[in-house]
Order: sequence, then C-alpha cells, then structure tokens
Amino acid sequence: MDPVETLLRDWDGESLILTYDPPSEAWIIIAIHSTVLGPAAGGTRMKHYANLEEAIVDAHRLAAGMTYKWAVAGVAMGGGKAVLAVKQGMGDGDRKELLNRYGALLQKLGGVFLTGPDLGTSVEDMDVIGQLARPYVFGKSPAAGGAGDPAPFTALGVYSAMEVTAEYLFGEATLEGRRVVIQGIGSVGRALAGMLCDARAEVLISDLDDEAIDRCSGDLGLTNITPAEVYGVKCDFFAPCAIGGVLNEDTIPRLDCLAVVGAANNQLAAAGDALSLLQRGILYAPDFVANCGGAMAITGMETMGWKREKAADLVRQSVRENLAKIYNNSGSQGITTHDAALALARERLNQPVD
Ligand code: PHE
Repeated sequence: MDPVETLLRDWDGESLILTYDPPSEAWIIIAIHSTVLGPAAGGTRMKHYANLEEAIVDAHRLAAGMTYKWAVAGVAMGGGKAVLAVKQGMGDGDRKELLNRYGALLQKLGGVFLTGPDLGTSVEDMDVIGQLARPYVFGKSPAAGGAGDPAPFTALGVYSAMEVTAEYLFGEATLEGRRVVIQGIGSVGRALAGMLCDARAEVLISDLDDEAIDRCSGDLGLTNITPAEVYGVKCDFFAPCAIGGVLNEDTIPRLDCLAVVGAANNQLAAAGDALSLLQRGILYAPDFVANCGGAMAITGMETMGWKREKAADLVRQSVRENLAKIYNNSGSQGITTHDAALALARERLNQPVD
C-alpha cells in the first residue's frame, strides 16, 4: 500500500485536511486528533520536510501531543496541529502569500481548527493569517488585538518544571548552581536561559544557527557547545528546546544528565524511548506537560480575559501540580513518566467537563 495511505489509515486521530498550494509548492496539512474536550487547537509549524510522508507523520504526532497537552492542563480544547511543509529557501514575499492563502483556508473552515504560533512561525505571521481568519488565530500581536508571543510563558512553564524536578531529585526546588544544557536558543530557549541566569544556574547553550548563539552568548555571557557535543555534556538538566525526536536510541546512551526537562514537542522519537530513559536513571519531564505554558496562557488571556499575571500564576500552578503527580505516580506504579502523563490525560479525556 502507498505509505501515505497506510499513515492515514492507521492514525488514531479524527481527520486530516490536506491541501496542495501550487504557487508556493507547499503542502498545507491540518491534523485534527481529538475534539472530545473542545474545538481542535494547536500551533502552525512551517518547515521543510524530505517528503509529504514525513510532514504528515509530524502533523499527526504534534496534533496528538496537543490533545494530551490541553487535557492535562485542563483547557477545554481539542488536539490539532497544522504543518506548512514548504520548499527550502522560500522568499519572504512567497511566504506571506502562502500565509494569506492559509488564512483564507482557516476562514473557510470556520473554526474547525484554531491556531497559534509554533516552530517556524511568529506573532507577525499570526497577524497575517489573522487578517482573514481573525477569530481562529491566537497569539496575534497586541496591536492586532492578540495576546502576543507565547514563548515567555512556555519558558516559564519549563522553568517551573525544572523546579519541580529539582525538588523531586534533590529535595529543594531551587535551581541555583544547577547545570543546564539548553538545546536550541530560539524564542523559548532564549527566554528560559534568561530565567535560569537570574536564578544563578549555570547555563550552557547549543544551536545549529551560529548567529543565534552569538546573540545569546553575547547578551547573557553563556558558554556554548557544538551541536555534536550537546548530548554528552555532564549536567543536571538537559533541556531540548528545538526540534522533536531528539531522545532516541542513538542519543539516550550518550546523555550524561540527571533529568530531561525541555520545551520541544515530541521529544521522544518512539514510545519505547521513555523506558530507555527510565532504565538509565534519567528522569523525564513529559514534553506535553512541561511545555503547556504558551498555549495555556495565550488562549486563557484571549478567551477568558486572564491578565498576564494570572496567566503566569496558572501556568506555574498547572505545571507544578501535574508534574509532581506524574513523578509520584511513575515512582509508585513503576511506569515511565510518559505513561503516567498519558494516563492522566486519558483520565481527563474520559471525563470531559462542560
Ligand atoms: N506552539 C504551541 C504549542 O505547541 C501552540 C499554541 C500557541 C497554541 C499559542 C495556541 C496558542 O503548545
């Protein structure tokens, strides 16, 4: 059978909207994983993929991650994700036109899918998409009536996750003196680095983009490490804050950390990798629990009128309570933290609140 057919047939989600955009030669993929708790909502990722199959796999997995993220965070939204699978080296003009056509599509869908920024898209991009699809786009700029960049809230949630992890491992929630390796110094990684520096942690950074590294190490005076070395550096916390799939059979044996706590979505390459981490004695903060801050804060501010302080408090509280529960359940039931987090999500999915 055709690999794409197999993918679509075997998926456990609800539906997939697939459109080819001839002018940009991009594929627009909207994966709706579950609408049990509410309308499907999730970021729009823009990225180049080797082929359509890879892009669909990413959309599928990211959409499922959103289902669990909303469920654990207690937000009445369903799981979905959009992937704009673009050609390499697309120009700014073409990019904007693609975003406009994507906005028109979201408008036509009339709320079947709600979106926000993700890897490869920005608040400015949300403003462009929002010109046509206004009610369906979160994270527009304040000037355009939105709550702005989710990244500082995502970083805040990851930071809280590190505190909970420190408390679980060392009996104290403080991060002072802890050594943290941040992989990926984009908007979330940078904000996290700033918070950790303020807490007097020792921060090491790594990125594929030398310019991003220069900017960040210049601003904060941080040590940088090459992408090739990033997995093997001895540290307390390894924080994946870029692409997914970085915890796999190749990297897990090389890790020299006590815990993995980061912002990237889909950090585990395969479900079995959670067990490999457990067997190596590395505590894993499930990604969809640690990284809920941006999505939770921005949608809360835009749909429920939360002020920034309230959003920050609720993010901290949600991450602390859920992660502590997951660590405890994992320990007492002898299951991986990933399975404990999935169990918590499924429990909430089975008892939707209205
Ligand atoms: N990129 C966010 C995430 O993965 C998605 C998001 C941001 C959704 C803002 C809604 C609002 O969690």
